Amino acid sequence: MTSASASAAQPAPGEGNGAPRHVAIIMDGNGRWAKARHLPRVAGHRRGVEAARAIVRAAGGLGIGVLTLYAFSSENWRRPASEISDLMSLMRRFILSDLDELARAGVRLRVIGDYRAFEPELVRMIDGAIERTAANRRQTLVVALNYGAQDELVRAARALAAQVGAGALAPEAIDVAAVGAALDTAGLPPPDLVIRTSGERRLSNFLL
Ligand code: FPP
Repeated sequence: MTSASASAAQPAPGEGNGAPRHVAIIMDGNGRWAKARHLPRVAGHRRGVEAARAIVRAAGGLGIGVLTLYAFSSENWRRPASEISDLMSLMRRFILSDLDELARAGVRLRVIGDYRAFEPELVRMIDGAIERTAANRRQTLVVALNYGAQDELVRAARALAAQVGAGALAPEAIDVAAVGAALDTAGLPPPDLVIRTSGERRLSNFLL
């Protein structure tokens, strides 16, 4: 992006302290990590949570303002029920064990994706964590939960169409800003760096 096309509100990466503004991570390879050690897949996911915790702390220290972690994709529902249940438990435990530290460290939690499809108790915990950290400004931790970029685009298109249908929005008024504002990522800078921890080079429906 040239400085001419960059929005005034979003300094280009490399400005300021030189750190990327937004790093997004596809956290995969957990299963392969566990398999290589003759461990159950859940051991790989547990290790993934430890890695995520270390990355959140490191990102804060490096001045990376926004960190997005792809924790559960809309395609992950196809996994065995026991693995889905393990992942839900890990998320529950992560909120219970880490929310205090995140809140104290000035981290604001945001979620992208249709996380309301999760079980009600977990949804309540996520909503509570979002609310508790809403005023924090030092760092934003975005967790992608039941997220898929195509699903995000469909939901955004439906929301805009509903506004047009209600007479609140003219079709010609739908521009880049209006579409951006209807996405789950509204208000976040685009990712400067996408890391896929397994080393594979595919986007897998992430932040398209
Ligand atoms: C995909 O790789 C990874 C996942 C489906 C789960 C990632 C989620 C966590 C580590 C836990 C929740 C995160 C937070 C922030 C609390 P894979 O395990 O399928 O690996 P593979 O490609 O080697 O099979």
